[in-house]
Amino acid sequence: MTLYEPEPFPQAGHFRDRFRIPHGPDGRDALYFCGNSLGLQPIAAAEAVQAELERWAGLGVAGHFDGPLSWMSYHQLARDGLAEMVGAKPDEVVAMNSLTVNLHLMMISFYRPSGSRTKILIERGAFPSDRHAVASQLTLHGLDVDDHLVELAPRRDGLLHEEDIEDYLERYGEQVALVLWPGVQYATGQVFDLARIARACQRCDTTLGLDLAHAVGNVPLALHDICADFAVWCSYKYLNAGPGAVAGCFVHEGHANHQGLRLAGWWGHEEKTRFRMGPEFKPTPGAEGWQLSNPPVLALAPLWASLKVFSEAGMDRLRQCSMEMTGHLAHQLQERLDERIEIKTPLEPHRRGCQLSLKVRGRREVGRRLFERLEAHGVVGDWREPDIIRVAPVPLYNTLDDCNALVDMMEELIDA
Ligand SMILES: Cc1ncc(COP(=O)(O)O)c(C=O)c1O
Repeated sequence: MTLYEPEPFPQAGHFRDRFRIPHGPDGRDALYFCGNSLGLQPIAAAEAVQAELERWAGLGVAGHFDGPLSWMSYHQLARDGLAEMVGAKPDEVVAMNSLTVNLHLMMISFYRPSGSRTKILIERGAFPSDRHAVASQLTLHGLDVDDHLVELAPRRDGLLHEEDIEDYLERYGEQVALVLWPGVQYATGQVFDLARIARACQRCDTTLGLDLAHAVGNVPLALHDICADFAVWCSYKYLNAGPGAVAGCFVHEGHANHQGLRLAGWWGHEEKTRFRMGPEFKPTPGAEGWQLSNPPVLALAPLWASLKVFSEAGMDRLRQCSMEMTGHLAHQLQERLDERIEIKTPLEPHRRGCQLSLKVRGRREVGRRLFERLEAHGVVGDWREPDIIRVAPVPLYNTLDDCNALVDMMEELIDA
């Protein structure tokens, strides 16, 4: 008889030894819950950067053309990994620039107000950079921000409901030229049903752009299948590619041969004739056609290194670990601290990712004090005004023990 034993499913923290864990004030590993802001450094990142420094030292300009890591196409090393992370075809993604820059590039091409279809719909409380970007795009088109920027309000539960987007678009969809929506709301940690939002946009022929800053590397995505028009994200949060890392951009293959306006640069020109140095711009089909400049190799190296860890772990498996771990943290907080701490993030597992947004009941100062005490005890989370403590257990490097230690500490310090 052959005994079939399934491969043990990796627990949260299975890949912890692939990361550098910062130390707390006592010199021991910090309780790091801030991967929603800046992911930890993969050990392979430093090796990848060092390798490029060596190639630069040894090869000089020849590094542009030398071997499989040639700098000419270095951005393409990240392509398959990124495509996997966002559920896209390789030609639909590109690593370039930073999130807000990419958002502007996308809006120049895909926010084309005309006739009575001029408005942009975002969520109230959107990340400030997104709001600045859309407001300035409106101004660029000579449109009044107050009249053309619609900010959908959360309900009394503090959350945004997909149904409200549907209702709004049902009524006013013909006036909306662009919906810009997050995959995960940065303050509450709420995960959105992007397929449902995409269908609502498609029903009224409205362009859908996504800010996936808090979604990529956190929850599985299916951008191609849901037919989002474009998406942008940064790589320094759950993607662990380092501070200010090179961001990502998705353009659906339906727009691969976009004929309309784009802000162009030589690296977006088709690869095979780029170096003929002609005056005409012939865009590379797909997302790469929006590139402006040659890729920042030293900044891309950690992204590539980090994506390899994701590819090994598998996003679906990480999501399963994450649901279990964040669920465990939520459960512990409710069991032990419910009278003191309110969880602002939705409690249904499919409506949240890694992050929990916590509000200490009562006066803001009590919450702030708890946050500072936690910090002094080696807990790394973050504070979002006016009164939110964000903590994000990340399945690549956090463990259930980290979560238990956090709740122990909160219980001990809340009244200390
Ligand atoms: C939701 C969201 N959007 C946009 C940004 C801005 O990103 P960047 O500074 O990389 O343009 C951030 C940064 O944290 C963010 O969290």
